[in-house]
Order: sequence, then C-alpha cells, then structure tokens
Amino acid sequence: MNHTRQENITDLLDQMGGLSIEESLHFLVGQFPGQVSFSTSFSQEDQVITHTILSARIPVSVFTLDTGRLFAETYSVWSSTNERYNTKVLAYNPDRNLLEDYLNLKGPNAFYASVVNRKECCHIRKVEPLKRALQGKAVWVTGLRAEHSAERKNHGLLEWDENNAVIKYNPLLFWTTDEVNQFIHQHNIPYNPLHDKGFVSIGCAPCTRAIKPGEDFRAGRWWWEDGAKKECGLHVG
Ligand code: ADX
Ligand code: SF4
Repeated sequence: MNHTRQENITDLLDQMGGLSIEESLHFLVGQFPGQVSFSTSFSQEDQVITHTILSARIPVSVFTLDTGRLFAETYSVWSSTNERYNTKVLAYNPDRNLLEDYLNLKGPNAFYASVVNRKECCHIRKVEPLKRALQGKAVWVTGLRAEHSAERKNHGLLEWDENNAVIKYNPLLFWTTDEVNQFIHQHNIPYNPLHDKGFVSIGCAPCTRAIKPGEDFRAGRWWWEDGAKKECGLHVG
C-alpha cells in the first residue's frame, strides 16, 4: 500500500473513533456517496450488518455472490431477508462462459480432485463476480471476524484491498460469537438454521460441513484439503 493511501485510511479511522457501526456507515457514505457496498453470504454476522444497514435505510448497496452451489437454507434466508426489510439483496452470478468452459472440461465436482481445481472454481464463482460487484465502488463492507481463524486476526477494521482497489471495512472484526448471537436474537433477525446444527462458517454446500466442539471455526470449510490455507481468494490478509 502506498504512503498516501495508508495516511487516508489512518485519517478515516481517526474520524471513526468512538462511532457506532451505524454512525460509521453513515460517515463512510458521506465520504464516498453511492460508492459503499456490503457483501453478504447471509451468515449470522452478515445478517447483523444487513439489519444495521437496512433498518436505518443507510444508502449502502447490499449484494450476494450467488455461486449457484449455496445451501437451500441460505437461499431461504435470502428470501426472508428480502421480505423482512422490503428489499432485494442484489445477486452477482458467475460469468456464464467461464463457468460452462470449466464444467465442460472438469465436471461439476472437480473441486474435490485438487486444490488447483478448487481455487479455479472459487475464482469463477466468487472472486470474479466480486470484482464486478465492486467496480466503481470505494468501500467494501464485509462481515469478517478475527475469531474465525489465525489468518483473519491480521485484518484491520479499515484496510486497503489491493485485489479490488477499494477500502475494506470489517465492522464486526472484533465481535465474539456470543455478541453476534445476542444481537440476532435481540432483534429477531432471520438467520441460517444451519448455525444451530454445528455449522459455524458457511459457504457452498459441497464444500462446507458442520464442525465438532473444539474444532477450528473454519475446519468445516474445504475439510478434505488437509493443511491447505482455507481461503477462497475473496479475502487476502
Ligand atoms: S470466505 O472467503 O471463506 O468465503 P467467509 O464465508 O468467511 O468468506 O465470509 C467472510 C465475509 O466474506 C462475509 O462476511 C461476506 O462479507 C463475504 N462473503 C463470503 N462469501 C460470500 C458470498 N457468497 N456472497 C457475498 N459475500 C460473501
Ligand atoms: Fe466452488 Fe466449493 Fe469454492 Fe463454492 S466453495 S466456489 S463450490 S470450490
């Protein structure tokens, strides 16, 4: 990151000191009108942010990366979120040509065969659509939490995302699972029922399983990739 960029981020962080998440979002929208977007995977942490944005009608666009391989439960949370907040969470889908070429060459479940195939699938279904979703945006809001993995502890509340050339705001970075749960129940927010069945971090259905007590939060993601870095390329620390 260049010097000026770091100074800008430090300056913004200073101005956001002591603000609530709602106030911080208003502040960022004031700084970058029409250029703030939030990506939701409909996880409980994402639902906290969605609730904050949509119940206060903060002009932040809310979108999801519909990989085409999400759990049925995730699509249900998407529907109930649209209904609850009288909105339409925007969909970004994989590029049809890239996806057809990949499927015709490798088949539908090639991600189990190699890390290379898996990363290619994540690239087509998530990374490329994210790039499109963030085109022309200045701020990308995410539900990243430090508790999820050692690598995620390296993220900042506000940081520069080189891949998409945007400032990334991770408002729940330091929230605990209990705090997230409490917020969800206090405000009666729709949430993914898989969270009550041992699923902590929820991604695509073929690549996510429940975890056992004591396992790492992300142990259920790409669980067959022993020791591999459990990231899909959306978040680079
Ligand atoms: S991932 O990189 O492993 O897939 P994770 O599931 O932990 O990410 O989610 C972290 C944050 O990334 C979410 O809070 C959300 O902002 C974003 N994200 C992850 N998956 C999606 C998705 N399918 N659609 C939109 N945003 C997503
Ligand atoms: Fe493909 Fe699995 Fe990545 Fe989803 S999580 S994009 S199905 S490899």
